[in-house]
Amino acid sequence: MAIIAVAGRKGGIGKTTIAGNLAGEFAGLGWTVAVLDSDPQHSLAAWAGQGEGMLSRCVEKVNGRIADALRSKAHKAEKAAGVVFIDTPPGMPEAAYEAALVADLMLLPCGASPLDLFALKEALSLALKARAQRRSKKPRIRFVPSKVLLNTNLGRSLSSSLAQMGKKVLPPIGQRIVVAEAVAAGLTVGEFAPGSAAHAEFQELAKAVDKILRR
Ligand SMILES: Nc1ncnc2c1ncn2[C@@H]1O[C@H](COP(=O)(O)OP(=O)(O)O)[C@@H](O)[C@H]1O
Ligand SMILES: [Mg+2]
Repeated sequence: MAIIAVAGRKGGIGKTTIAGNLAGEFAGLGWTVAVLDSDPQHSLAAWAGQGEGMLSRCVEKVNGRIADALRSKAHKAEKAAGVVFIDTPPGMPEAAYEAALVADLMLLPCGASPLDLFALKEALSLALKARAQRRSKKPRIRFVPSKVLLNTNLGRSLSSSLAQMGKKVLPPIGQRIVVAEAVAAGLTVGEFAPGSAAHAEFQELAKAVDKILRR
């Protein structure tokens, strides 16, 4: 049983996209998957509601007092699922902090702009603060290069910039139109465009995350 939280200071950096598509890839790898949408904007639930794919069957909204709901639902969902993904709101507010208190793995996506890197530093220190509160089962923290333009210098150097910030860096997700098209169809990239370059990237990321969980 594993809990994976996707978090970050900035909105629009790909948290929801990564949570949903990783959930899709994990289902493909044979895991039983649950997804908790703890963002009051409920973008992941909205994405799931656009279609009839795997997300429509495994996304659950977290409402009310986010901190309590998140913790109890995460544990409840954990019983039925092999892996629980928690999508969190931007800003690392209470919901993200609570997710950090229950997660086995924290994924912090980051874009290539220097502003993204500044925000990541703050997200990391908040994640470390939550981590320090836990006496056992301290979560692993990993960076995920997100919405990367691989044909730009900034994009190409992102992984090495991130590596200098002291946490391991997972395989990057490029900025690709098919990722947004899949959302419009209510599907994961693997369902919408199997075999595409975008799908291959999410598969690589899922493989790396799966390896961490099996350690
Ligand atoms: N790899 C990507 N390629 C293209 N568009 C992306 C990618 N990741 C996210 N997006 C788009 O960027 C916007 C913000 O992404 P989202 O996952 O909602 O970020 P967050 O959850 O961090 O606010 C959405 O419109 C989404 O479709
Ligand atoms: Mg989001």
